[in-house]
Amino acid sequence: MSSNKVQIFDTTLRDGEQVPGCKLNTQQKLIIAERLDTLGVDVIEAGFPVSSPGDFASVSEIAKIVKNATVCGLTRSVEKDIKVAAEALQYAKRPRIHTGIGTSDSHIKYKFNTTREKVIERGVAAVKYAKSFVEDVEFFAEDAGRTDNEYLARVCEAMIKAGATVLNIPDTTGYCLPEEYGAKIKYLKENVTGIDNVTISCHCHNDLGLATANSIAGVLNGARQIECTINGIGERAGNTALEEVVMIMRQHPTLALNTNINPKLLFDTSRMVSEGMGMVVQPNKAIVGANAFAHSSGIHQDGVIKNRETYEIIDPEEVGVTESAIVLTARSGRAALAYRAKKVGYDLTKLQLDDAYKEFLSFADRKKEVKDEDIHEIMRIKSIASAI
Ligand code: KIV
Ligand code: ZN
Repeated sequence: MSSNKVQIFDTTLRDGEQVPGCKLNTQQKLIIAERLDTLGVDVIEAGFPVSSPGDFASVSEIAKIVKNATVCGLTRSVEKDIKVAAEALQYAKRPRIHTGIGTSDSHIKYKFNTTREKVIERGVAAVKYAKSFVEDVEFFAEDAGRTDNEYLARVCEAMIKAGATVLNIPDTTGYCLPEEYGAKIKYLKENVTGIDNVTISCHCHNDLGLATANSIAGVLNGARQIECTINGIGERAGNTALEEVVMIMRQHPTLALNTNINPKLLFDTSRMVSEGMGMVVQPNKAIVGANAFAHSSGIHQDGVIKNRETYEIIDPEEVGVTESAIVLTARSGRAALAYRAKKVGYDLTKLQLDDAYKEFLSFADRKKEVKDEDIHEIMRIKSIASAI
């Protein structure tokens, strides 16, 4: 599996929806699932069907309406979970069961009070059982980030033999450094028999702010699926942000990696999820934050007005943002004032600009941001007429 295509596995409706306060009803989930399908994600993890009747209903309804993506349901390595997930997925065009178990020593000792061998046995039994319902079975080795590589390789090999089609290597606690996570994937590629016949998946949490870097390290070392969420929502500090990994691959053609995602829908999808879940997007969030394409210092504004590329590596239109914002503050210069004044109808001569700029600075010192209505007020004070 060495193609350049990286599968995007969206878990906004499962890992993302686990976040306190982010709960959605079935109707809201259906709207988001439809949008994810249109966005071009390859896999939609629709929920954890055994967890509640509501989640079962949501997975089942999503399975019926999704046209292109694979629809996936999460399970523990427990027969009942798998049977219920299979039932919820029965109408999916492309169903996938995502089953697994913790593989780190801490999970084996404290969660299961068992042995490494028994964990492998439980995983194998789960994969085989899931395989009796669907062809496409993904296995997650929970806390793989803190699982030693030699044992993890044995786990992976056993799951491939049992019939897994995808191996998910989660950095569940967001602990790994990018070099370490990349080396883990490389180790598996080099040491697991049969690994080239399955897809390796990265599922990285953001506890140290490294989820995106770790996912990219994973695909650079041979993984071909990234598990991510819109706006990076998810347990604790969240998951890998879909919009970030997609745009990293687009902006760096030398990586020679691509996805099916239509980037023009990224901003709108971000807002749809944020509003639906009542979870604000931090203003400085990469790609989709309110300030991602906003320039406020005079030096930057002057550069962007002359040529956008001086301070922007992405054309905002590419991700569905109408235009870059030139925000007027006390740090703005004449170029920014002239630019914004022109947008609201004032074509200033050099003399007019010098005159208006003094007034502008006194407005800007009083206010956090000088808005369009303030510009009109400045022009009125300075008796400068609109050109329109
Ligand atoms: O973070 C994690 O390990 C998970 C698994 C259940 C895939 O979310
Ligand atoms: Zn997770």
